[in-house]
This record gives sequence, structure tokens and C-alpha cells, in this order.
Amino acid sequence: MYTDNQLHDIVVKRNTSSSRKRSRDGVRSHVTPAKKRSSFTSTTTCLADKEQIYTQDMAENEGVELGDVVAQWEAMSPHNKKVVGSGLVWVRWHFCLEFACSPMFARVSSGLSLGSPVSPTVQRGVLSVKWCCSDNEDLFEGYDSIVADSSFLAKLEDVELQTRQCYDQQTPNACADDLSDSMLAEDFRDSSPRALPSSQLEFQKAITMPHKSPSRGAPSSSTPYLMNPGPAVNHADLSVHKPHPKARRSMKDHLKKVLMDNAATASTVSKMVQQKEAVMNEEMSFAMQAMESITSEGDLGPFFGLPSKVKDLIFRLKGIQDLYEWQKTCLSLDSIQQRRNLIYSLPTSGGKTLVAEILIFKELLCRKKDALLILPYISLVQEKVRGLSSFGIELDFLVEEYAGSKGKFPPVKRRNKNSLYITTIEKGHSLVNSLIENDRLDNIGLVVVDELHMLGDGSRGAILEMTLSKILYMSKSTQVIGMSATLGNVKDLQSFLRAENYTNNFRPVELKEYVKIKDSIYEVDPKEEACFTFSRLLNFKYSSGMQKMDPDHIIALATEVIPQQSCLIFCATKKNCENLAGMICKYLNKEFIKHKEAEKATLLGELKSSGNGSLCPVLQKTIPFGLAYHHSGLTSDERKLVEEAYSSGVLSLLTCTSTLAAGINLPARRVILRSPYVAADFLKRSQYKQMVGRAGRAGIDAMGESILILQDKDINTAKNLLCAPMEKCYSNLLHDGGRGLLSLILSLIGLKITTTVEQVKDLMKGTLLSVQEAQVSPEKSLWDLTVESIQTLKQKNLIEVSSDENNQNILQITRLGRATYKGSVDLSYCDVLYRDLSKGLEGLLLNSFLHLVYLVTPYDMVHQCKPDWMIYFRQFTNLSAAEQKMATTVGVPESFVARKAAGQSVRKSVDVVVVNRLYLALVLFSLLKETNLWIVSERFQLTRGFVQTLLSSASAFGSSVLHFTEELEEFWAYKALLSELTRRLTYCVQAELIPLMEVSGVLEHRAKQLYSAGYKTLAHLANADPQTLVQTIENLFKKQAYQIIASAKMLLTEKAEALQEEVDDLLMLPLDLPSL
Ligand SMILES: Nc1ncnc2c1ncn2[C@@H]1O[C@H](COP(=O)(O)OP(=O)(O)OP(=O)(O)O)[C@@H](O)[C@H]1O
Ligand SMILES: [Mg+2]
Repeated sequence: MYTDNQLHDIVVKRNTSSSRKRSRDGVRSHVTPAKKRSSFTSTTTCLADKEQIYTQDMAENEGVELGDVVAQWEAMSPHNKKVVGSGLVWVRWHFCLEFACSPMFARVSSGLSLGSPVSPTVQRGVLSVKWCCSDNEDLFEGYDSIVADSSFLAKLEDVELQTRQCYDQQTPNACADDLSDSMLAEDFRDSSPRALPSSQLEFQKAITMPHKSPSRGAPSSSTPYLMNPGPAVNHADLSVHKPHPKARRSMKDHLKKVLMDNAATASTVSKMVQQKEAVMNEEMSFAMQAMESITSEGDLGPFFGLPSKVKDLIFRLKGIQDLYEWQKTCLSLDSIQQRRNLIYSLPTSGGKTLVAEILIFKELLCRKKDALLILPYISLVQEKVRGLSSFGIELDFLVEEYAGSKGKFPPVKRRNKNSLYITTIEKGHSLVNSLIENDRLDNIGLVVVDELHMLGDGSRGAILEMTLSKILYMSKSTQVIGMSATLGNVKDLQSFLRAENYTNNFRPVELKEYVKIKDSIYEVDPKEEACFTFSRLLNFKYSSGMQKMDPDHIIALATEVIPQQSCLIFCATKKNCENLAGMICKYLNKEFIKHKEAEKATLLGELKSSGNGSLCPVLQKTIPFGLAYHHSGLTSDERKLVEEAYSSGVLSLLTCTSTLAAGINLPARRVILRSPYVAADFLKRSQYKQMVGRAGRAGIDAMGESILILQDKDINTAKNLLCAPMEKCYSNLLHDGGRGLLSLILSLIGLKITTTVEQVKDLMKGTLLSVQEAQVSPEKSLWDLTVESIQTLKQKNLIEVSSDENNQNILQITRLGRATYKGSVDLSYCDVLYRDLSKGLEGLLLNSFLHLVYLVTPYDMVHQCKPDWMIYFRQFTNLSAAEQKMATTVGVPESFVARKAAGQSVRKSVDVVVVNRLYLALVLFSLLKETNLWIVSERFQLTRGFVQTLLSSASAFGSSVLHFTEELEEFWAYKALLSELTRRLTYCVQAELIPLMEVSGVLEHRAKQLYSAGYKTLAHLANADPQTLVQTIENLFKKQAYQIIASAKMLLTEKAEALQEEVDDLLMLPLDLPSL
């Protein structure tokens, strides 16, 4: 590395040499018309006075590529590129080029300034350029003036004109006089050829190698996808300023190209020129190092180390103008600055997400590392992918979705862009495993876990704990950030994550919590002994009939806010939701129908077409009043339509189950909890907090309120709920018979993270279970638990123990074990799956999907549905002879089903799991044939929500089984079959809709609308005009249109980049190619 003094010397020297060289060669830009300007005493002075930097955006503004400008300069004269590529101009260019190589600096209007308070890294960044920038120069400023005559190129052109005049008309001395103004001009003028410095020799070697590579002629992998390829441009034709043909190269690539061209032409130029090139190369190598040191420090601009463009984007895309004070404080914490792990806890709606997003942007843009964002639900992943795709497009990173059956393992290697992986808990675990396996975990610079308290949530909590334990053990450079609502035992989580903690009670909209007992409303006040204080009497006039129907006065509570404001009513069961919505609208004033009547009619139309003509009778009745129910019994399409209508104010009231509280962001002015129960269980404090946390919409309401309706019998228990301290979060590795612990140990051995019992134990010390050993497992020590688990895995033939040369026991995974952890198959049925798949091979039915569908019907759904024997029998008799034979082979003879349907006793013993599983397989089989949820759910008398859940579970399990079979040679035949089946199960729509449904959040109904409006491919969507989309697609809001387009663009870019990477890999010259 260079010291600042060395840096100064080099830059100044470079400054002089380039000035002189430029004056001889002449740098010409035909991009901006030359403007008459005052004369400069010397090129050096002129450059030192520069306040403009020519960036990618400036080039775009003028309809050219920055790379083209460089290329044009090159084309002007073989020496120009060296002028561009060396000296002071080059340094500046170098910085511009590197910064401008991503479009992230578009519209950056303010930037680094030594005068402003900047972090040391920023100062260091400026330090390396301060010799060519005035002290108060803003590195990113002046963008707007590109069209004015102060553009950098215009100035350059002036300089060039003058120096040319000077060169052409005067004696060379005139120029030399000017140049002698520069501090070290003499040094260079007099420099005689000398041996190349070793750093430069190395650098030359490095750049000439790839030059010879056959891949050089191939399109660069860094080529970002250009949506509207323009006509070809002849670079030599300097009067043509059109977009680059087809693809555009990144600035880095241009730089590389310049370097390689330099290297290639070296032999044709004089020794003196070679010497100068050598110096240039050394300078270039130095500048690259300087650049790296800047980016590795992690600062690019004034917005928490990010360029102002990020701030502008946050405003443009999220409408957030300024950060909350706590957000600013949190982002400035030492732990953040020094990249230590951090847990930050705030109440719901506190704005936690934005802080995480800013940290993610920093990781992607400044540290050039990938980031992993783990969210608890698929719906949240999809929402985030949609929301962050626009940022990805603007800031030049990829957003990759890992949810349901989406996501590649290991992820596609991206050489030129960084990726943000947005994953569910389960997919996040598989992703981390695949990265560890491929020795790529260090590429993940940052892991953000939203809703960190999910660690305490059953088997999913166990999976999250496994993921984090492995990351902590394997990658010391990966920073872990956890967000959570306030927790009772955050210290435990801190010990587990070796993290610091930041807590704040900020909530942008005040939340007032109430309870309603009989006719009275009480405010919740934990400081009071009674826990509540009287607030008011509820004002209502009920007829006796109405009083009977609505003894809890829910209508009175709701109509205090609707239809002008919004209301959510949480119910204990799904049936409750439907009944309550129906009941409320029965008593609502007819005036409610007039509110947003047209929009509600459109919504009904949309719902009907999403159901292929079928419409839920409850929704048909409630929607005209602006009401709907929302729970998992609705199809995803229905749920989405209802959510969108609620968000836009077309619906003002939703009756819902607790899943709405955690799954999606739908705030309300008033939240009513119809009872303190979820199904038959009393509410937990965290559930209660999640629900009431929906009250108060930031930026819309001045306050939010929640009302919990209590019956006398529940008052005391409710006091505990309302006034008790926050719940604690405990490890779930021992949940369900220690399945989590078994899985963790299996994958540790499978991934070769640990090969001895001692190593396993060592890793176990880094788990949350270890932190909470005394509370979670008071009887057995962690050591005993570990040894027991290893024994169990051995018994299940998932691992084996052998001895190494030192007689030490080595743990190794078996083939079955590897298939199990690779497929993320539950340990409790991995052997059954193996047996079923083996048996399946003996007579696999291939002229129908039924047999394969049966093999991927999830075992864990079997107990959620009891067959209706009549329906079973009817479906059975509709099967072909081959299908019936297959059913009999797996263990369900027709006679058995017939006797059951006839209500006769059955003497023959059958395996109930197999019988029930085949029934579910028949549902799925029907669905694959019909692709219509409504018809199938009616046929089997199941709710359409259940059928849809079955479908998505089957597609997820299908992909698990696929990975399972891939590891076992004997199952080779399944690979192709299961790939296709999983794809069909994932989308289960007409084939032509699949490309559209690949776009995150585009469901069947929307895909149909888009398809019939002419958007038939991903490219159609990516290039769509948002205005046209809004006007042609019914019920599509502007924001949604933008998000669909952004997600489509992102997906298209990802696909194009993946192909590009593949091409590059194919054409890469093998490093070990034999030669003489
Ligand atoms: N600085 C800000 N100014 C205005 N609005 C903001 C700001 N920061 C976040 N918001 C908005 O506040 C709302 C809630 O933020 P967010 O979803 O991040 O909350 P949260 O803390 O994650 O809550 P929860 O625990 O419910 O998930 C969002 O609509 C978000 O856009
Ligand atoms: Mg949140």
C-alpha cells in the first residue's frame, strides 16, 4: 500500500506526465459541442480546477455510453487511450469509471466533501483524489450541469483545442513553457527508459493473460441486460451518438479492455511509449489498490456511507423523506460502524425494516458482498422481492427469491454483481448449507434476520437456530443483524449471536390499547393495580334482534371508524371470520353500499374471474358493504385481491385470523380482538402484541387503537396477558423429540463441518441451546444430548463411525444421510421415503402422473384430511385400469375403498397412512388435470384454501424428494420425472401463464389478465409501460404496475446474467491447459 505522501508524489507525477501527453496527442470529445472558454495557462491548471466529473449518467443524458466515450477517445488516436488511462485525468476518470460503472450514481447531486463532517473512510477516499480536486469539491456534484457548458468533456475539449493549437501553431516550447508550470514536469520530460518496476511487470502479466484467453471475444459476463437494444454504433464514427448496440459493458470491463488493448499494441510502439505505458500501468495498479482500500472501508457517499441516490430512491419508492431519530442513531452505532453483530428491538411499526435495508445496501454496494435477508413467511418474501427489485435495478444488484419452490442451490455464481437473497427460514437454511458445501459462505457479508424471536417458534425456530449456528461457526467475516419486537430475554439471544443490543420504544403512531367489558371501554394501564382504567361508555342503539345477534357490540365498535377509516377484527377461527363478516353487513346501513360502489363492483368481478366464474357466496354478500373475511381458506388470488382492495380503501373492514397479523403488512386505524383466543388456546402475549401492533398507519393516522373484547370469565387471565412482562424466547432444537438437534448434527457431519464427536460438541457450544441449557434441558447436559443424538443417527443408518490412522473415531455420513439432509427431508420419515421410492421403481406407472404425484404427496399433510369414502370410491372408479392397478400395488385395493364407501366393515388390514395419502394424491392428480381449484375443492368437499396449501406443500416436498433422489444413484430415473412434476405442481396453471407467474407475486388471475392484454413473456412484462399497464389491466394500481415491471426486469436480468456466466465459464481457458 502507498502512504499518503507516496500517493501525493505519484498523483502529481502522473498529473504532469498526462498533461504533457495530452497536449501532444490531443484529446477530443465529440460528445459535447466545444464551447469557447477562457484560456488556461496550462493543462495542469485546467484539470486541477475541474469541478465536474463525467459519469455514466452524464453520458446517458447525452445519449451515449461512458464506455463509448472512452472508446471514441481510443479511436481518435492509439495514444489517446493512454492519455485517458494515465495521469491525473485518468485518476479522476478512474474514480469516475469505477463509481459510474453501476448506474447507482444517477441523479446524485451531492457527494463527498472534505468540508462536511465525513467519516474517516470518506476522508481517506477523498484524500486519494484531493490532489486533483479542490478541498471543497464534491465528488458527485455538478451532475445537473452536464447539459450546460461546464461539462467536463466540454472543458476537456477546450483544453484539448488549446493544447492542439499550441502544438500545431507554436513551437513546442510554448507548450513546454506552460507545462513547466506544473510541479514535476521536468522529472518526466527528462526521464529516460529504465527497467519496469516489478509491480508493473506483474500487473502487465496479469492483464496480458486474459487477453489471450479465447473467452475474450465472447460477450462479457458483466454485460448488463439492455432492455431496448439500439442500433449498432460505429465507435470510429464520432458523430454518431447512439446507445451502444445490444449490450453495454461495465466501466470495469472498458478499463480492462483499454488495458488489454494497450498490452496488445505495445509491440508496435516505440520504447519510449512502452516506458510511458509501463508507468501508466503502475499508476493504474496503484489507483486500483487505492480504490479497493476505499470500498473495503465501506463508504461511498454522504447517506450513511451510501450515495445520495439511495436517499432519493427511498423517498421516490417508499415515500420516506427522512429517517426517524432512532434509525439515525442505530445506523451510527459503533457496532454497525465496526460491523459487529447487533440485535435491535422496537415495538411493531417502529420502522425496523428500513435500517436493515440500508445496511443491506451498504453491504452490496460498498463492501461488494452478497447479503441474506431471512423472513418468516413466503408472503413476506414475495412482498420484499417486489419492493426491493426497483432498488436492485437502480443500484445494480440482484434480488433473488428463495421461497416455496423458487431458488437455486447452490446459488448461481455472479462475478459482476452482488446478490441479495431474500429467503424464508427453510430456504435460508438450505441456501447456507449449499454455500458451505461449495466453500462460498464468505461471500455472504451480511445476514439479516427479521422477527428474530421466531427462534422460539417450534421446528422453524430450530431451523433458524441451525442456520445461524453454522454461519457463526463457519464465517467469522459475516455480520449478523437480528430485528425483533421487544423480548423478555434478549440477553440470551445476544450471547448466542455474540451481538450487541439496541432498544428503543419508538412508535411513529401512538397506540392506545383498550379492553371492552360489557358496555364499557377501559384503557389498558399496566401501572394500575387493576390493569385497566375506565375510559368511556360505548354509545349504541341496538334493537333487541340486533342485541341478540351482536351481544359484543362489534357493529357499534366498527361503525365508529368505517367506512372512512379502516378496521381489522381478529377472530378465533376461520368460521368465526366468515360468520362475523356476514352478520355485520346484515345490520349495516344501506349507505355503506354507496361508498366506492364502482370499485367494489370491479373487485367482485375480479374475484369472480379469479375463480373461473365461481365467487364465494360470503364475499359476494359482504363486499358491497366494504367488508371481507381473510384467512387461509381463501385462495392466494382471492387473498391478494382482498388485501389490495383493503390497502387502497375499497374495503374498510376485514375479519381475519391471527395469521394476518404476522404474514402481511396491513395496518388499520382500529384493531378489534373479538376474543382473547386463537382457536381454543388463550392468546400469548407475543400474539396479542402482533395483532394490536397493526393499529395505527404511519403517515395516515394520528393514532391507532386496539380493543380487546372480554367476557367476565377471561378478565383475570387477560390481565396477565396485558400486563405481564414480555415473553421469553427459547431454543427449539429439542422440540418434537429433538428433531432439530438430530438434523443439525446430521448436516454438520454431511457438510464436513465436524468430523469428530469433540468437534460436534465444540459447535454445539455456539448454539442458543447451549446458552439456555439449564432452562431448556435441566435433566440432561448438552454433552449427553449430543452423544445420544449421534447414537440415534447411527441407528437410523444416517451416519457411520470409522477410525482414522490415529485410531480416532471419525463421523461420516451415509448415502441415506446425505440424501436426507440434502433434500431437507424430515428425519422421521426419511426411511419411509426411501422405501416408497424403491418400491415405486419396481413398477413405476409412467403413462399417468398419479404414481409420481403419490410419491411426492407430503407425509405431514396426511393427518390433516379424512377421506370421504363415497368421493374416494367415485374417484377410484374413474381411474384407468393401470392407475387402479398402481393403487392396489401401493396398498389401496378397490375392494377396500368400495366396502368403506358402502359402510361395510373391512376385515383386511390396510395402512391408514397409505390410504389417506393416496386420497390426497387423487386431489392433486385432479388438480393437475383440471388446473381449477374451485372445481377440485368442490369435487372433494374441501376448502379451496386447503387444496391450495396441499398443492404448495406438494410442490415443496416434490423439490425435496428430487434433491433426495439426486444423491442416490439407484434413483437416477426419478430426476427428470420429478423435475417436470415439481414444475407443474408449482404453477399448476395453463403452460402459457408460467413465465408470467415466475414474477414474484404475479398469481394466476393477474397472469391471465396480463396474458390476454398481450403481455405473454417475461420480456413483455419487463419492457411494459407502467401507464399502459395501469390503463389496460383492471384493478391494477400504479405502484403495483411499477413493482411488477421491476420484478420482471430483475428476473430477466438474473436469467440473462446466469446465461452470461455460463457462456463465460464455457469459454474460459483452462488454467491447467497442457503446454510445451
Ligand atoms: N423514517 C420513516 N419515516 C416514515 N415512515 C417510515 C420510516 N421508516 C419506516 N417507515 C414506515 O413505517 C411503516 C412500518 O415500518 P416497518 O414495517 O419497518 O415496521 P417494523 O418495525 O418492522 O414493524 P413490525 O414489527 O410490525 O414488523 C412502514 O410502512 C414503513 O414504510
Ligand atoms: Mg418488520
